[in-house]
Amino acid sequence: MTEVSVAKDTAPAADGLVVLKNVNKHFGALHVLQDIDLTIARGEVVVVIGPSGSGKSTLCRTINRLETIDSGDISIDGRPLPQEGKELARLRADVGMVFQSFNLFAHKTVLENVMLGQVKVRKADKKAAEEKARALLDRVGVGTQADKYPAQLSGGQQQRVAIARALAMDPKVMLFDEPTSALDPEMINEVLDVMQQLARDGMTMVVVTHEMGFARSAANRVVFMADGRIVEEAAPEQFFSNPRSDRAKDFLSKILHH
Ligand SMILES: Nc1ncnc2c1ncn2[C@@H]1O[C@H](COP(=O)(O)OP(=O)(O)OP(=O)(O)O)[C@@H](O)[C@H]1O
Ligand SMILES: [Mg+2]
Repeated sequence: MTEVSVAKDTAPAADGLVVLKNVNKHFGALHVLQDIDLTIARGEVVVVIGPSGSGKSTLCRTINRLETIDSGDISIDGRPLPQEGKELARLRADVGMVFQSFNLFAHKTVLENVMLGQVKVRKADKKAAEEKARALLDRVGVGTQADKYPAQLSGGQQQRVAIARALAMDPKVMLFDEPTSALDPEMINEVLDVMQQLARDGMTMVVVTHEMGFARSAANRVVFMADGRIVEEAAPEQFFSNPRSDRAKDFLSKILHH
């Protein structure tokens, strides 16, 4: 097999908030992340796309160390990822994560869900945590749902609560792993709108998504993965109108014609 060179159309980020250098990861015999080099600048929005099994979720999970890596380096804001303990807890709080499934605490109200991490990890006092939680719930458009339990909310509302909960920790970067793919179609936009606004507000974001409209309008850069590698990265316009690799062309022809 010939080596595929990575096509780069964007200038290297000068101010790397999240930096992955030569990262490798295996699951048994499977080489899921292969020589990943990725620098995400402060305020940058990077959309990660690629076929199922290409390593997108694993990439996200290594950034907040839900997965360990076999070799290479990852740093956040100039500091290497801590291995364990308090340092790791702090790092996790710096890296907000929103998954496909909402992962809210079912036995806590919406308000409590957004207060919890602030009190437990950030050691905020309850009153301040509540004020902040209410402001964030308003910001994502679910302020009136504060006293309900997650099961009483729609999927789109729950996902917006999950975003508010992550934001409550004042993360340096937000990772989104297919945040809208479990939602009914009519709820997708309400979540994407919140993400658009976050991007406009300058949040550094890594977003795994099949929502190409979002990628086009919100991303500074698209990273295309296949078989554990970054095959191509480019500005959205460039990537969608003129993908360079056959893998990306093939992938785009499948998703854009469905
Ligand atoms: N905990 C695990 N143990 C073993 N193999 C795993 C584990 N997690 C993921 N894999 C495998 O690693 C590869 C990459 O998985 P990953 O979930 O990162 O892909 P993905 O690009 O997010 O795919 P999808 O688009 O389906 O979400 C897949 O082949 C998957 O089966
Ligand atoms: Mg995935």
